Amino acid sequence: MSGKICRLLVLFFLLPNIILAESGEKLWLRYLPLDNAKVVDYTNAIRSLVVAGDDAVISAAAEEIQMAFNGLTGNDLRNVNRPGAGALLIGTPENRLIRDLELSSELEKCGEEGYIIRTFPVRNGQMTVIAANTSAGVLYGTFDLIRRMQTGESISKLEVNESPAFKIRVLNHWDNLNGTVERGYAGHSIWFNRPEDWSVRSAQYKYYARANASVGINGTVINNVNADPNVLTAEYIEKYARIADIFRPYNMKIYMSVNFASPAVIGGLENSDPFNPAVQQWWKDKAAEIYQSIPDFGGFLVKANSEGQPGPMDYGRTHKDGANMMAKALQPHNGIVMWRAFVYEPGDDERSVQAYNEFMPFDGEFEDNVIVQVKNGPVDFMPRESFSPLFGGMQKSPVMIEFQITQEYLGHSNHLAYLSTMWKEVLDAETFAKGVGSSVAKTTDGTLFNHELTAISAVSNIGRDINWTGHHFGQSNWYAFGRLAWDYDLLSEDIAEEWVKMTFVHDQKFVEPVVDIMMRSREAVVNYMNPLGLHHIMGWDHHFGPEPWTDIPGAREDWLPRYYHNASEFGIGFDRTTNGSNLVSQYHSPLNKIYNDPLLVPENLLLWFHHLPWNYRLQNGLKLWDAMVYKYYEGVEEARLFQNRWDRLEGYIDDRRFKEIQYKLKLQTTEAIWWRDACVLYFQTYSNLPIPAELERPVHDLDELKELKFDMKHHN
Ligand code: GCU
Repeated sequence: MSGKICRLLVLFFLLPNIILAESGEKLWLRYLPLDNAKVVDYTNAIRSLVVAGDDAVISAAAEEIQMAFNGLTGNDLRNVNRPGAGALLIGTPENRLIRDLELSSELEKCGEEGYIIRTFPVRNGQMTVIAANTSAGVLYGTFDLIRRMQTGESISKLEVNESPAFKIRVLNHWDNLNGTVERGYAGHSIWFNRPEDWSVRSAQYKYYARANASVGINGTVINNVNADPNVLTAEYIEKYARIADIFRPYNMKIYMSVNFASPAVIGGLENSDPFNPAVQQWWKDKAAEIYQSIPDFGGFLVKANSEGQPGPMDYGRTHKDGANMMAKALQPHNGIVMWRAFVYEPGDDERSVQAYNEFMPFDGEFEDNVIVQVKNGPVDFMPRESFSPLFGGMQKSPVMIEFQITQEYLGHSNHLAYLSTMWKEVLDAETFAKGVGSSVAKTTDGTLFNHELTAISAVSNIGRDINWTGHHFGQSNWYAFGRLAWDYDLLSEDIAEEWVKMTFVHDQKFVEPVVDIMMRSREAVVNYMNPLGLHHIMGWDHHFGPEPWTDIPGAREDWLPRYYHNASEFGIGFDRTTNGSNLVSQYHSPLNKIYNDPLLVPENLLLWFHHLPWNYRLQNGLKLWDAMVYKYYEGVEEARLFQNRWDRLEGYIDDRRFKEIQYKLKLQTTEAIWWRDACVLYFQTYSNLPIPAELERPVHDLDELKELKFDMKHHN
């Protein structure tokens, strides 16, 4: 064979991999060609586009469907003025073409951002219509249609009615003005301190806005809750305004985390006391200045008197006083205040009961444009916690949930943990606030307590890594948050399947095992890190690796794992019963009784609520020690299974992403074994009981693990 032919042959075999190599930067909006049968179906249904409206949002929707249709089918949609067979008509009743369809009674049910999609018979065929009351609804409807095509669903007979569960659906970025990201594991900030030209950045921001709009996220707070006062200077307001301009066509509002001490720190005032008229005026002027540049600015997110942040209590005032002062400054502009309830101070009360104690007295006393933002659990973002009793507790003031997409306590961006299952567990949890049927979701979406202002948020996992989220599967959590914020009744499994098909391929031989891995993944992490309701066992500063032994003389007790697992020769677990810190009493009946009783409490929260002896018998007959050890081992076995399964999927997707994920899954198994061995061996020093004989022996010894530095900052 001649050298030339040889080279050609080598190129031929390499080519598919070169072409297919994907970095993950396109997220789930890849719009790659579908198989022929689908292309025929879709082009039979839609061949032309009628855009009934001309504002920026409808134009963005039109641009998107053109781009998607072209990518998925290889055909352009012809732009036409009159609907007919094969047309896709998009618009609002402001336009006569939509009014003529007489959809008003159905549109009424869609609300502000909902939409309907319908197939209408017309002469010589049928047409498809996406109609909504606002162009935002049209945009979301367009993305819905695109998703159907991306996942290979039929679009020939559509009857879709959709409206979002929550009015405000926001991401919270914890990005600092110097470009670092608190608890970020996907590189530096996409927002701050970037060297690239605006053209590069703005292209990325547009992509970000499209991705959010595709799942219905309609707002974002781009700076850290531990807020730098400088974010309120003219320089940053200008930066925010430029970003807001890019978001606008995608119906995304920009919000800002603000520092309560700003009037004193950057305003030169004597103090930041909310009762000081000069301070009140300062916030009013600041709000007016912001709205001058950003007319649709969303509002403020505030972390006050929490973890060292300043707040109204510095002046003997209350959360209510602080929140209401800011709310009044924003009212003339229709802005809102998201006031966080993540508070805990050293004192007599145990941390999990503090937020409730601090906020319940103000229920009903906040201004109408204040919403209290509550983390899903009463401590922090543990792999599993009970839900915060403020859900269903606060009834007169609106409350919103804060989830965490970034995996601060779930293996950073090293571990695959699909979190939809965790969020559903919380959203579906029964609070009994108004008897049966009072799920956490319903206590926050306005249905149970009739609040106008409803919202949901999650701490983002996005950074400058080429694939946005560090781990390719981290994208699925961004995606799933948006989908659940729109409709929390969706099944985690269905969301996973959509995402896998859009992000990778449609082949069921790939989709099924991958969805299965995702569905098991969060529980696997719980098992090898914090089974049976254990929590806070990681290193106290980096929150990454296992350090059940950490004991720093002089450090705050409630920062240290030993405080939370409370292991001794007598037993393990945190007593939050009526004999202990009494968190149980903050829940409605009968949950207070259920949680108070080790025989009734769900097994997965056993050690969250109870301190029990090592030989305590669980309902399944196992001794507590054995049950705990089995869980740790089960977690590792799951991680191994994920790794083996993935290895068998080579060839279904591009080599680059396959190998990057393969590497992460290997790392996950290694780290799962650290967790298992560290916890089992350390707790064994107290329990003095053997590891069941049929289990493999620990791979490491305890001293070696203690020497290992689990601080994985170099992974960032
Ligand atoms: C956790 C996290 C902090 C963060 C805080 C918050 O404690 O470790 O980095 O600032 O939550 O939510 O405010």
